[in-house]
Amino acid sequence: MLKISDFVYEVGAPHPELLLFDKLVPTEYGTTYNSYLIQDEKTALIDPVDPGKKDILLQNLQELGIAKLDYLICLHTEQDHSGATLDLLKVFPEVKLVGSAKVAELMEHHLHIPCSDFIIMGDNEELELGSLTLRFKTIPFAHWPDNTMVYLAEEKMLFSSDLFGSHYAAEDAARPDLSKQKRAAREYYAEIMMPTRRQVGKYTQWTRDLNPALILPSHGPVWRDPDLILSLYERWTSEAVTPTVVIPYVSMHDSTELMVRHLEQKIRELGLEVATIDLGDSDRDLRATAGETLYRSVDAAAIVLATPTVLGGPHPNQAYVALLLNTMRVKTKFMGLIGSYGWGTMVEKTMLSLLDKVKAEQLPAVLCLGLPAEEDYLALERLAEELVSKIKALPAETLLT
Ligand code: FEO
Repeated sequence: MLKISDFVYEVGAPHPELLLFDKLVPTEYGTTYNSYLIQDEKTALIDPVDPGKKDILLQNLQELGIAKLDYLICLHTEQDHSGATLDLLKVFPEVKLVGSAKVAELMEHHLHIPCSDFIIMGDNEELELGSLTLRFKTIPFAHWPDNTMVYLAEEKMLFSSDLFGSHYAAEDAARPDLSKQKRAAREYYAEIMMPTRRQVGKYTQWTRDLNPALILPSHGPVWRDPDLILSLYERWTSEAVTPTVVIPYVSMHDSTELMVRHLEQKIRELGLEVATIDLGDSDRDLRATAGETLYRSVDAAAIVLATPTVLGGPHPNQAYVALLLNTMRVKTKFMGLIGSYGWGTMVEKTMLSLLDKVKAEQLPAVLCLGLPAEEDYLALERLAEELVSKIKALPAETLLT
C-alpha cells in the first residue's frame, strides 16, 4: 500500500515471485496489480486486482477503514485487473460499477456481469466525487479494445491502465530503482504495446499534451517524472530506428554459428553495433532468450534470423521467435536469413510465411550446405555490406542515436 496524496492511495497487490506473465513473458522483477483508491465526498476504487491477490486488496481497504465504496471504476477487462470484481461486489454490494461502453460489454462476456449494471462513461465525460472530478479517455488497442484512462484534474494524476506499465514489483514502491523501472518498461512495451505501436504513439502524444504531474499505470511503479516514460514511448513508437543489427540464432553443429560470427564481425568492421542472442543456450529458458530478442528489436534497424534446417524447415526455437516477431509487428526496416542445412532446405519459404506481418525489406538469404565454404563467407560479407549501406542510407529523421 502506498499513500500518493491526501486523496489517493495505491491499494493493490505486488506479485514479486511471478516468473512468467501470461505463461509467456519472463518477469525478472515480478509485477504488481495496481488498484487506486480516491477518497473525497464519494469514494472510488480504480480497478480491482488479479483474483489470486484479492485478499491483499481487501486487507488494504480494511486497514484504511473503508466500510463503503461508492464507485468501482473498471479501466480494462483483462482479468489481472478485473478478476476480483465479483469478490469486491460481495464485500461492497452497494458499489456502483463504472466503465466505458466497451468495458461494460466485455465484462458481460468475461465475468457475466450485465452491461446494464454499469454507469457508462464516454470520452471527456466526468464523474464527480465531491471536490475532485474524474475525466475519462478511451484508448482502444492499448492493448485491448477496452483500455481506458482516467484523469484526476485537480491532482494532475493520469491513471493510464496498462499503458506506460512495467512488470516491476519494487521493494519500496515509493522509491523504485529507476534503471530497473526503465528496463521493465521497455520489456513491457515490447511484449504488450508494440503490436499496436501507432495507436500507442497517438495516446503518448495525447498524454504529452495533457502534461500530467504523475502517471499511475496498472502495473509497476508510478512515474513521478512523466517526461521520462513519455520520451521513451515517443522513441519506441516513432518510425525511427537505431543503427543496430540483432541476430538471434540457433546452431546445432556450429556451422550456423560460424556464419553468425563472420557476419557479426563484418558488420562491426563496417561500423555498426550487433547483438547476437543464442536461442539454443541450454542455461537459459527459450522464453528468456526470445524475450531478449524482442527487447533488443524494439528499435533495431535490422534483424537477421540464423537457423539450421531441421527436416526441411527452421529450427523450432527460431520458428518460435519468428512467430513472436510477427505477432509483435516489429518496426525493423530490414530482415535477413542465414543458416546451414544438411541435405535440403525449405527454410526460406517457411520463415517468410511466419513473418508476413513484418513490413521490412527482406534481403537475399544466405544458406549453405554443411560447413560454410569460401563462397559462403563471401556471400555473408556481401550481406553485411548491403545491410550496413542500406541502414546508413536511411533518412536522418528515421535514425535514432
Ligand atoms: Fe495488465 Fe491487459 O492486462
